[in-house]
Amino acid sequence: MSRITDEIMGHADDNDGIEEYDNPLPDWWVGLFVVTVLWGIGYALNFHVVAQDSQLKRYDVQMAAAEQRWPESDVAVALAFDEATLAEGKEVFVQTCQACHMEEGVGGPIGPSLVDAEWLHGSDPEQIRATITDGVTEKGMPAWGQILGPEKVRKVAAYVVELGRNASAQPTAAADPPSEAPAEEPAAEAPDEPEPDLSTLSEDERRAYLMERGKRIYETGETGLACTTCHQATGQGVAGAFPPLVGQKTHMGDCVNHATLILDGLSGEIEVDGVTYNGVMMGQRDQLNDLQIAAVISYVRNSWGNDYGLCSPEDVATARAR
Ligand code: HEC
Ligand code: HEC
Repeated sequence: MSRITDEIMGHADDNDGIEEYDNPLPDWWVGLFVVTVLWGIGYALNFHVVAQDSQLKRYDVQMAAAEQRWPESDVAVALAFDEATLAEGKEVFVQTCQACHMEEGVGGPIGPSLVDAEWLHGSDPEQIRATITDGVTEKGMPAWGQILGPEKVRKVAAYVVELGRNASAQPTAAADPPSEAPAEEPAAEAPDEPEPDLSTLSEDERRAYLMERGKRIYETGETGLACTTCHQATGQGVAGAFPPLVGQKTHMGDCVNHATLILDGLSGEIEVDGVTYNGVMMGQRDQLNDLQIAAVISYVRNSWGNDYGLCSPEDVATARAR
């Protein structure tokens, strides 16, 4: 394409002697400009008309995605009381809370009643959820939020609220505890059983007995509180909340120290495998007898790869007398 170039516009007189050439913009530049204008029109048509989109809509989509990704905003979700939620809440309760608060939350030696009219930390459903989430760790109520997550806490909170409502609807319910199948009552197991005299057993028999009984106490608590509730079935614990019992014995020590830990509990900051724990494990001095404690610590000391030797009821008696 030939064009006249370098033609002078001739208005230097009006412009302090500055001349201006009348050169057209290069074709590639004009071409790009046209393309961007067309693109802009096409984009706007597509965005607003074809896709029916808008900035507000995009914002809502992103907020919804964030809600899914960071479920803490779940706190804003009101408790639901539909049947499925309550059934799942009950499941969590039986597995996790019953050990202390007893069946249907009637309360026991460790955890207070959740069905009477008295509340230590508020009776409002949101307060109950907050108590469950944050716990009352100095009093032995673990902070369940970090262990169960908000979803399960919401369900179990709904179940607890519902328990309270049912109880106040029929005031006698709390007075006489529900009589369920006795097999589910952990306290029923131990006392009736004849306790063997370990000194009459051979070494192998003694080991077998302590390991088997210890496993049962670890998992069901028998007359006390199941260790699984906090330290999990294979002793791996919950990082940051309950220390693992596998592969270290810094705080277990010898049998007498280990027994003392179960008798008197443990609190304050400890470090295990590089993770800091600052929780409360309550003592079970009144819940477990010497044989039970000897069994459960023997089980812990010799399971999941641990190999720290058996302990005897005499060790526990020594610890108890200290
Ligand atoms: C290791 C024992 C233990 C376990 C397990 C436990 N709690 Fe507790 N809970 C307690 C103790 C102890 C308290 C009383 C705290 C206090 O004195 O302030 C308590 C208090 C509460 C309260 C407040 C009661 C009030 O009067 O305000 C609620 C609600 C509660 N627990 C619900 C639960 C739920 C739900 C679970 C299961 C996810 C659970 N607890 C598991 C020991 C436990
Ligand atoms: C309610 C929850 C809970 C229950 C139930 C529980 N523990 Fe613990 N346990 C803890 C917490 C929390 C700690 C850490 C305490 C701290 O931070 O000082 C701990 C610490 C320990 C330790 C010391 C860990 C270490 O690093 O050496 C041992 C051992 C132990 N528990 C054994 C048991 C045994 C055995 C049982 C069952 C008889 C049991 N625990 C039941 C919560 C629990």
